[in-house]
Amino acid sequence: MSQVQKLLSKNEISAKAGNCLTKSNEMMFNQSGLLHEMMKQCWGANFVSPIEQELKREDFKVLDVGCGSSSMWLLQLSEDYPSAKFVGLDKISKFPKDFSQNNLQFTQGDILEGLPFEDDSFDFVHMRFVLMEFTEEQWEEKVIKELVRVCKPNGWIELLDIEETKLVSPSSKRLLALFGEYLECKGISSSDNIMTEGIFDFLDATNLIGRIYSDERLVPIGNWGGDFGKLALKWSIMMFCSLKKVFVPLRMSEGEYERLLNQHSMENDYHSYLIFRRIYCQKNF
Ligand SMILES: C[S@@+](CC[C@H](N)C(=O)[O-])C[C@H]1O[C@@H](n2cnc3c(N)ncnc32)[C@H](O)[C@@H]1O
Repeated sequence: MSQVQKLLSKNEISAKAGNCLTKSNEMMFNQSGLLHEMMKQCWGANFVSPIEQELKREDFKVLDVGCGSSSMWLLQLSEDYPSAKFVGLDKISKFPKDFSQNNLQFTQGDILEGLPFEDDSFDFVHMRFVLMEFTEEQWEEKVIKELVRVCKPNGWIELLDIEETKLVSPSSKRLLALFGEYLECKGISSSDNIMTEGIFDFLDATNLIGRIYSDERLVPIGNWGGDFGKLALKWSIMMFCSLKKVFVPLRMSEGEYERLLNQHSMENDYHSYLIFRRIYCQKNF
């Protein structure tokens, strides 16, 4: 069995999962909401650290770093676990306002300048889809050290991100090349293996972490992945659409970019896929 087949069989991304997402009215999801639901379907949960029971405790504190303006993960978790306390932090101060949970708060902050929390403050520190925000040096020198610092002894740290991007249609190859250029402008190399090696090494180097676990899922993009694959293609179109404002000044006119996106939406018979990985570990007592 190939690695791709193995990962596919690990997923429960059957037509059932795809249908379920399609029926829940995908149009109400924005790009990050759709990705959030896709991750939940892939893993059957919003986290993999063994904290399910502890999340029912009143003194259990959760931090989500780089929570984003829609903060879907926090909105859902704080509703599912009303006893625990949740904090979302992002460098951009645009946070959701329309929620009724009183166990959720947001704060503006930049992890590169240090998280505005005392050492050992949180039982669970979570961060996802921020891989492309930092250089390898920032991951090593600041990001991982800060996540570990604010985590309590015996607390858990969990990261989720894209590990491998295999986009093979002609349009997606061009879009990916643009993405690489964009990252390079930010000083970030798209070829760094942060999710497969870097983060493990940097966590290890703190000498404050025990065993590091990881778990991966493959998300097929396009018709070969059934309903789920079609949905994933929609997500990739939304994602590249949202990047128009940064790509267009780089290399092409708006019209050209629109044509490329259009081509991407029609090239749905290629075996493209993404591999997502969760890395999770417990801070030593
Ligand atoms: C792709 S979004 C992911 C949002 C959210 N985690 C999710 O799962 O949808 C990346 C987020 O990281 C935030 N971010 C980037 N650099 C940051 C920094 N230095 N400190 C805090 N947040 C940062 C961005 O503002 C953005 O909201």
